[in-house]
Amino acid sequence: MAKDPMTVLVIGGGGREHALVWKLANDSRRPVVFCAPGNAGTAGLAQNLDLAATDVEGLLAWALEHRPDLTVVGPEAPLCAGLVDRFQASGLRVFGPSQAAAQLEGSKIFSKEVMEAAGVPTAKAAKFTEAAAAAAYVRGQSFPLVVKADGLAAGKGVVICQSPEEADAAIDEMLVKGVFGAAGRSVLIEEFLDGEEASILALVDGREIVLLASAQDHKRIFDNDQGPNTGGMGAYCPASVVKRDLWPVIREQVFERTLAELRRRGIVYKGVLYAGLMIGSRGPKVLEFNCRFGDPETQAILPRLAGDLLPALEACVDGTLKDRMVQWKPEACVCIVMAAGGYPGSYATGDAIEGLDEAGKLRDVVVFHAGTKLVEGKTATAGGRVLGVTALGKDLKDAVGRAYLAAGKIQFNGAQYRKDIAARAL
Ligand code: AMP
Ligand code: GLY
Repeated sequence: MAKDPMTVLVIGGGGREHALVWKLANDSRRPVVFCAPGNAGTAGLAQNLDLAATDVEGLLAWALEHRPDLTVVGPEAPLCAGLVDRFQASGLRVFGPSQAAAQLEGSKIFSKEVMEAAGVPTAKAAKFTEAAAAAAYVRGQSFPLVVKADGLAAGKGVVICQSPEEADAAIDEMLVKGVFGAAGRSVLIEEFLDGEEASILALVDGREIVLLASAQDHKRIFDNDQGPNTGGMGAYCPASVVKRDLWPVIREQVFERTLAELRRRGIVYKGVLYAGLMIGSRGPKVLEFNCRFGDPETQAILPRLAGDLLPALEACVDGTLKDRMVQWKPEACVCIVMAAGGYPGSYATGDAIEGLDEAGKLRDVVVFHAGTKLVEGKTATAGGRVLGVTALGKDLKDAVGRAYLAAGKIQFNGAQYRKDIAARAL
């Protein structure tokens, strides 16, 4: 017989994990939720555990002792490190792809090979391990050109180069200077794609695919997509660039083909598969795959989910996923990321955050925490991306208005946020 109440462990400590904890804690079965390591926001809904998301051994030891009914993995690092395989080998139920399947995110070269073999539309690319060969190749290409580190580089391993000199510098950093360590020992040099980006996430149970509502992230730090790339400065859902006629194309050309090619290689994919797409004049092309929920897309997607998330996650583990398990509210949702001053460069931590209660009291507003911690009972900053101020609205314009109203009530030293989240869709 199942334990009563059900227990769920969420791994991770960012805004995505607060959104997951928030949704799971409100499940109709009212599970007891643990979060490792969590943040000041998850502390109100779950019991935070003093275990890093990358501490696979520590997490496994905790799970063996406490036997959660389900573990949900947020970030890519533990997935790529094989956490799911380890948990499964110990008879623990865990939501997320195996190490082999997580290579779709963990190695851009693997991912590109799968896409090419499967006929998935994507940028043309070549792979290199030698700087001289890469530099010679660059000479024959048109610009802009994109240089990508093969492995995980926390979003910093992609360089859009406007000239051969910029490409040489990126190649030198990765293949010669080794600034990304092992992640940059191989590089992919690929054609630049033009268009509008969208994130399409799917739940996958090994065979069945359920596409989640579309979202758009805002990767650059400043308004009008200026300045360096970040982990994501805001998101909205749905993304109007994903028109109705694109859905069957995305399902078949991106998800079905990719999963079929993995199966041919003996790899069964379970969990979330996230396709970062460039929607251009010639249809959608895949920029990258992620093997997990997006951050901050998840903060904008989950508030729109009508009904429970937990049954769908369990169905992915059990191989019983059905389309009807995922239904959407008609409202639109917007998440504005409030970041620490200086982010994505160096920034201060430990600054007190004011106005959280006032913002959170607004109707249909949830303030998801990302880089926060409790200091003597008060919430303080503890990371670059600090909060994801999220609002539902009857349409996108309404949601944008509410989210900015809420963000305006929150203060901390050096707080910065973009003023144009979702503006392109309005
Ligand atoms: P990735 O980590 O591969 O998604 O790359 C991060 C960001 O770089 C993407 O969200 C795009 O904005 C940009 N990017 C990556 N690949 C390309 C490409 N081939 N053409 C244009 N932009 C790209
Ligand atoms: N929002 C981009 C990512 O989660 O990778």
